[in-house]
Amino acid sequence: MKRTALLVLLCLLCAGAALGEHRVMVASDLHYLAPELYEGSELFIRTLCTGDGKLTQYSGELLDALLAQARAVRPDALVLTGDLTFNGERVSHIRLAEKLNTLRLEGIPVYVIPGNHDIESNAARAFHGSQWSWTDAVTAEEFAAIYAELMRPAEGGAGANLSYHVPLSSELWLAMPDVTVWHGGAQVYGVYMADHDAWLEQVLSAADAAGAEVLTFTHHNLIPHTRFSQDTYLMFGHEDMLRRLQAHGVRLNLSGHMHIQHIARDGGTADAATGAWSVWPHRFALVTLADDGTLTYEARTPDEAFLPEGFAAMSEEWFTSITVEKNRPMLADRGIPEADQEAMLAFSARFNRACFSGTFRSGDPGWREDAGWLLWQKYLGESASVLYMNQVMEESPEDNLRLVQ
Ligand SMILES: [Fe+2]
Repeated sequence: MKRTALLVLLCLLCAGAALGEHRVMVASDLHYLAPELYEGSELFIRTLCTGDGKLTQYSGELLDALLAQARAVRPDALVLTGDLTFNGERVSHIRLAEKLNTLRLEGIPVYVIPGNHDIESNAARAFHGSQWSWTDAVTAEEFAAIYAELMRPAEGGAGANLSYHVPLSSELWLAMPDVTVWHGGAQVYGVYMADHDAWLEQVLSAADAAGAEVLTFTHHNLIPHTRFSQDTYLMFGHEDMLRRLQAHGVRLNLSGHMHIQHIARDGGTADAATGAWSVWPHRFALVTLADDGTLTYEARTPDEAFLPEGFAAMSEEWFTSITVEKNRPMLADRGIPEADQEAMLAFSARFNRACFSGTFRSGDPGWREDAGWLLWQKYLGESASVLYMNQVMEESPEDNLRLVQ
């Protein structure tokens, strides 16, 4: 074997890839905020304390960790499934694209699609001390220009927003239908329209003719995940897209948006929603297409070596405290004894951690027998919180971290 060929083989083996295997790394909902837009602002930290658990005050560290993780994994491509920025700030997009381009220039292709926070946002703000001010957002054209090297909208066909596809190899193609739509200054909904369908049919037919497997990527969900997630997370027209994929034997769509790690299945097709990179436990996923055609999706957490010391524990603590402080006023207002309040808060925090991290299994009897859960039913049996937790507990007990198709 020639020396160069031997070196290539050694590199592949070091990165954990088998010859002929394809691996795509996926991360979603980075919600990156350029550090110059928040550094040193106590108002920003207070804003996050009432938020949904995002650790945006560590945007720089989390982005560097994602790049380090990609360098360690050395996938055939890294795909980011939308909500790239905190709230669509132009500066955040520019800084993020600069960082992602360094990875691309190191030989790891990176592809992005927009989410509902990325384009024409009416919430782009900068924080200074105890003040905030509006900052520029971006149009769809500006988004495409900033990420020109990280997407291929020119090949997508008119009418399907920023949709595009990437023939990654003769065996594997990636297709990115951009289903986000603007509504009142912010992209809120995901809608799969006739233009998407015509475009996707062309791409899937071409892939069939080439004998290539296709993975699709959307920000909004393709298949209902849970009953509570259907209103804003599931794209409108999802049945049409699913029908189109199933007609061509597409096995896997990768989405995000919920911030919850979850896999939904419909026949031979699945929608794997990867948890938010910006929220504990900072999920990313690896999709592997093996030589024998086996397709595997596996959700992971970052290597601790790529994050500051103690980050994982601090992040879990932050996520827990956000859940607890959100629920505490509701329990206090009802005059519930303090010891019972603490048991209920501990339960809801544990429940939320399991849901968001994708480790919740409804078949586990421990959930329904938990003393904290019994107290929730005793004091707040008719509340939306109990309804939500009940719905999750009624889900089928399938694996939300790993899928083999
Ligand atoms: Fe989103």
